[in-house]
Amino acid sequence: MRTSTTYQIICLPGDGIGPAVTRAALDVMQELGRACGFRLDVDEHRIGGAALDATGSPFPAETQTACTNADAVFLGAVGGPEWDDTPGDRRPEAGLLALRKHLGVYANLRPVVVPEALADASPLRPEQVAGTGVLIVRELTGGIYFGTPAERAASEARNTMRYTRHEIERIADIAFAQARQRGSRVTSVDKANVLEVSQLWRDVVTAVHADEYPDVALDHLYVDNAAMQLVQRPTDFDVILTSNLFGDILSDLAATFPGSLGLLPSASLGSDVGLFEPVHGSAPDIAGQNVANPIAALLSGAMLLDALGESDAAASLRHGVDAALDAGHRTADLARNGEPPVSTTEMAAHVASYATDKLTPSASVP
Ligand code: IPM
Ligand code: MN
Repeated sequence: MRTSTTYQIICLPGDGIGPAVTRAALDVMQELGRACGFRLDVDEHRIGGAALDATGSPFPAETQTACTNADAVFLGAVGGPEWDDTPGDRRPEAGLLALRKHLGVYANLRPVVVPEALADASPLRPEQVAGTGVLIVRELTGGIYFGTPAERAASEARNTMRYTRHEIERIADIAFAQARQRGSRVTSVDKANVLEVSQLWRDVVTAVHADEYPDVALDHLYVDNAAMQLVQRPTDFDVILTSNLFGDILSDLAATFPGSLGLLPSASLGSDVGLFEPVHGSAPDIAGQNVANPIAALLSGAMLLDALGESDAAASLRHGVDAALDAGHRTADLARNGEPPVSTTEMAAHVASYATDKLTPSASVP
């Protein structure tokens, strides 16, 4: 038996349903830690609207320091109608962008899987969507989100879409390396028929491919066409490599495939501390009711555990999610006609019980 490891996790619950889904997921992760011989030491800090209200900043200095010293950061969601009229640099979203930049997490991995049990919940035809497994690799700390000048005057405003060769090379590296562990196909998405920055993107991706990953299949699509192809033939895609803005849009599109935005996790990685967060937003309309789907947070937790090297716990957590869905447990976003939905905490408890059964099979075998 190895001696027990303790990891320092900074939890940033944020706004809306963020606190409920992070709490539910961390409870399950801590339980798995006890079964697998590690401890998650969790410290909560403020971000987004909650931080704005308490401190006047959406990403206060004490949160910054805590995140820098963590083994991983686990985030819920930010934003809500209360802060719609706040000026741009003090909106809750600005806190999330500042956090990403602060941690240098340039690679955002968003896996979109359609669990077999959910093919009938998809807005696409079940036979069209069944078996979809796409990984969106979105550049996260550059592009038009961060380019300068970015400014607004009374009757004119502008943003700048900018990428350097270095920024494109490092995200392309991540996408090709991920592809090697999956279906060995990368589709790079740009708008090279119009934008100079996309022409550089395409040239650099082509060069990284030729120099280092000739064994991986590569194709290029314009973003408008990519949106259409993704809907028409989702199962043909393996890894999608794209920039910050296009990745933001395409990942919400792909998030509809399994029938609810409440299912999709993400990991944002750089060279040091990783950030793990559900793709969904803060869903203020259902906040505080214990009805939100915790699966996106749970699967983000599995990505966090993998990044810590706790792959047994991560695998059992994923198994727990699949088993709970297979058994028919559904939160309100996925509930089928006439069937009563389970709550956030009930769903997490189901996942925990299937996940721990897998780890200690003797306990459930007579
Ligand atoms: C996301 C979100 C964020 C983004 C917002 C909240 C700033 O939509 O993580 O996809 O645009 O990156
Ligand atoms: Mn988004």
